[in-house]
Amino acid sequence: MLSPSQRPSVMPHAELPATPLIAAKARPLSGVARVPGDKSISHRALIMGALSVGETAISGLLEGDDVLRTAACMGALGATVERREGPKGATWRVWGRGIGGLVEPADVLDMGNSGTGARLIAGLLSAYPFLSVMTGDASLRRRPMDRIIQPLSQTGAAFHSRAGGKLPMAIRGTSMPMPLTYDSPVASAQVKSAVLLAGLHAPGRTTLTEPAASRDHTERMFKHFGVEVDAGPLKAGSSAYKVSIIGQPELSGRPIVVPGDPSSAAFPVVAALLVSGSEIVIENVGLNPLRTGLFDTLREMGASIETLNQRIEAGEPVADLKVKASVLKGVSVPAARAPSMIDEYPILAVAAACAEGETRMEGLAELRVKESDRLAAMVNGLVACGVDARADGDTMIVKGKGKPPKGNATIAVNLDHRIAMAFLVLGQVSDHPIGIDDASAIATSFPDFVVLMSKLGATLQTSADQ
Ligand code: S3P
Repeated sequence: MLSPSQRPSVMPHAELPATPLIAAKARPLSGVARVPGDKSISHRALIMGALSVGETAISGLLEGDDVLRTAACMGALGATVERREGPKGATWRVWGRGIGGLVEPADVLDMGNSGTGARLIAGLLSAYPFLSVMTGDASLRRRPMDRIIQPLSQTGAAFHSRAGGKLPMAIRGTSMPMPLTYDSPVASAQVKSAVLLAGLHAPGRTTLTEPAASRDHTERMFKHFGVEVDAGPLKAGSSAYKVSIIGQPELSGRPIVVPGDPSSAAFPVVAALLVSGSEIVIENVGLNPLRTGLFDTLREMGASIETLNQRIEAGEPVADLKVKASVLKGVSVPAARAPSMIDEYPILAVAAACAEGETRMEGLAELRVKESDRLAAMVNGLVACGVDARADGDTMIVKGKGKPPKGNATIAVNLDHRIAMAFLVLGQVSDHPIGIDDASAIATSFPDFVVLMSKLGATLQTSADQ
């Protein structure tokens, strides 16, 4: 468990008071910046460290609330987790207990706002014959857990959730987890990873298929630790995906370098595209091909985004992005692209609101079960800012006029960090400022958002600054 001196000075956001924030017209954005570590990879690095024997040293870990919850959880399950400040930033060290070595937590596991933490760790806990109880904040307690309860129950574990598969939930895992063969109905890296983490504890082969490939950080991280992983298209030419792993490997700790999060980079990137005269470089951005749908779409819209210094770090492609303000036009974004940019639709909708013409974003059913119903949040928020936006089933349609909208609205963000940041970007170009009712959720994924954006030239103010 983290001792108080080892805990970073980041308060879990659930304990922070609501902080209204207002974005007003920015001067041209310029400069070089680094966004924090990738959230998905950070969770997985801590979990794999806890399942390995010996030391896993992690650099670039995201110190956002979501990931700090996973760190605390690994401590509660018996791993030793430490943070050390160094000349090049903090390194997190995890001394794990090996596959099968975790111990019963003494208290409820509070996953805060984090769907990824909750679902991945539930996969892990299904393979331990002890009781764990998991909860989260008001947003997480609304989100569906049945998508993992259903497959994980087939390993022999017992789950007791609130009605509708909602947290809080009690898990009594099994000492002899069965290896699964599971056809997931959704392309979800959280479902896939929950099943694979359970499978790591089961004898023999665990296999999962999904209708389209979701982000493959778990598979890459497993390979990095020497797990036998077989992954690829379900059939030649098919967009469906299949992965199988061999369970009960002996894992030993190893170094992990976490790249910058492309989902966080998305906010300064779109801000620089929209604020005329801007030119910025975001260094060290993870460019896993299953995460780059937004950058592909923005380029189709006419964005100037150059990829520099491409390299591979700890099994993940990484590069610097040079972004110049650009004139954007509306495009059609096919449903098949959704898994590779599922967290980026809020900020894409902001870009679409300023582009010339209609942008159609199809296949967005999963947006309705994120930290909030993001499809409704974006449409309602954009309409309040004077944008022509609507939902048609699972499609979002935004008609831009080739110039910024009027703004002049305050958006309720409902504990959703990406909704908060998306409207703070729109406020940097709109005719009148845009406010959000509560910026505290931003700390879940991008604790330095306000500082980083302000250094690049954004005008972000609390009501006390005015
Ligand atoms: C994540 C998977 C995605 C994504 C989330 C992070 C992960 O969720 O939206 O922010 O790290 O596995 P789904 O698995 O629900 O698509």
